[in-house]
Formats: sequence, C-alpha cells, structure tokens
Amino acid sequence: MNVTVKQHRFPGIFLMEENGKSSLSTRSLVPRQSVYGEKVILIENNHYRFWSTRRSKLAAGIKNGLREMPIQPGSRVLYLGASSGTTVSHVSDIVGPEGVVYAVEFSSQVARKLIWLSESRSNIIPIISDARYPSSYAPLVGGPVDIVYQDVAQSDQSRIFLDNLSFYCSLGAYGILAIKARSIDSVSETSDIFEREVANIASQGMEIIDNVNLEPLEKDHRLVVVRIAEEL
Ligand SMILES: C[S@@+](CC[C@H](N)C(=O)[O-])C[C@H]1O[C@@H](n2cnc3c(N)ncnc32)[C@H](O)[C@@H]1O
Repeated sequence: MNVTVKQHRFPGIFLMEENGKSSLSTRSLVPRQSVYGEKVILIENNHYRFWSTRRSKLAAGIKNGLREMPIQPGSRVLYLGASSGTTVSHVSDIVGPEGVVYAVEFSSQVARKLIWLSESRSNIIPIISDARYPSSYAPLVGGPVDIVYQDVAQSDQSRIFLDNLSFYCSLGAYGILAIKARSIDSVSETSDIFEREVANIASQGMEIIDNVNLEPLEKDHRLVVVRIAEEL
C-alpha cells in the first residue's frame, strides 16, 4: 500500500493520497489511537487518522468546499452536541496541545466514550450538561472561547447557538452551526427552512461567512459559518 500525506490548505488538516484517492485526515495527538474504527497510518513518525466525511459534518463541510476554517491549532472551541466524540476527536487533533475543546453533551450514556477519550487527550474537557443553559457550565469553561461549534439536531438549535455565542464570545469570534432542517420543521421545503434559519441568525448581529450544503454526505443538512459582527 502506497500512502502519502500532504498538508490541506487549512492548518492542522491533512490529505492522505492512496491509490489515486484523496481523503481527509488529522495528525493524531495520541499515537495509534483509533476512535471510531477509522484507519490510522504511521508516516514519518506521525500517526494520521482518516477523517470520515460520512461520520462527521465538519469533514463533510470541508469536502463540500468550506471556504474558511475558523478551528485552527491553538483554538479554544466550545463544542455543543459532542455525542461519543467522533468529530470532537478530530477537533482535538486540529487544535493540538495548545488548544482546548470544551465538549458539551447532555446524554450521560453517549458521553461515556467522550470521557474515555478525555483520559488520553488532555485538551478535551467533557461537560455533561444541557447546551440550552450556557451559564450552567461556565465554571468548567472558565472564560471566552474563539469558536462555538454546534451539532445538536434540536428544533431550537438556532436559539441554543446564539445564546452560547452571546455568553462565551466577543466581537470577531466565530460560530459553526450544523443545521438539520427536519429537526426544525418536518413539512416545509428544506430550502425555505434553511433560508429562515440563516436570516434569523443574520438578524442577531452575525455576519454569514459561509453556508455549505452537506448533500449527498448528510441529507437535509447545512453547515453555516458566522462571525460576530456586532456587540451582542
Ligand atoms: C448529531 S449528534 C452529534 C454528533 C457529533 N457532533 C459528531 O459529529 O460526532 C447530536 C448530539 O447532540 C446531543 N444533544 C442534543 N441536544 C442537546 C442539548 N440541548 N445539550 C447537549 N447535547 C445535546 C445528543 O444527545 C446527540 O448526542
């Protein structure tokens, strides 16, 4: 097997080239660790983990042409809807030892794996809490963050996103929201649902930086990137 690695245009992200096929990957903070069954490859003393675009909306967004990637080495990220840590583990690789991922998940059952992950990755702080109440985890976050990333699939997902941005971020900080149209409205055209949600977010002092359709990797989903453009 002949696999080569090269830097992606986004810092902290790599492209693995294998038999003419290119796949996203991140350099693993923990040698040999496979988190969700993804392939891990050793190249020149570094372990690279393949990043599945079918298992991670952030990876799907990058594959589908995300123009700007606010999450970078050293970033402080508040991650809402961490689940068992599939995408969190790659964000942990990207931000590296100088960064931190506050990973919020309200189901203690699914968060077990997240807690296991945090035992080997000191830049993941697992928080078992409801993202609807940002002040409830303030003692664990302890200060402002650079980016709020959210993937919660709830009908009030925009409200949760805006409340956390307003609580934890200041002017110029970023938000990345995975919008699942069918969690918001089960009957309207998905294009109308996205338009409504994005207009609502823009009306709350957010500059819309990007709005990426995640099809065919994720049905009825978009990844929206915003920057805080007005004092909240
Ligand atoms: C689609 S999954 C997230 C997948 C994950 N982001 C990934 O890519 O690996 C949504 C998760 O959000 C969690 N969730 C939903 N509502 C939440 C809330 N209000 N607060 C915290 N977690 C929530 C669910 O329990 C579920 O684990």
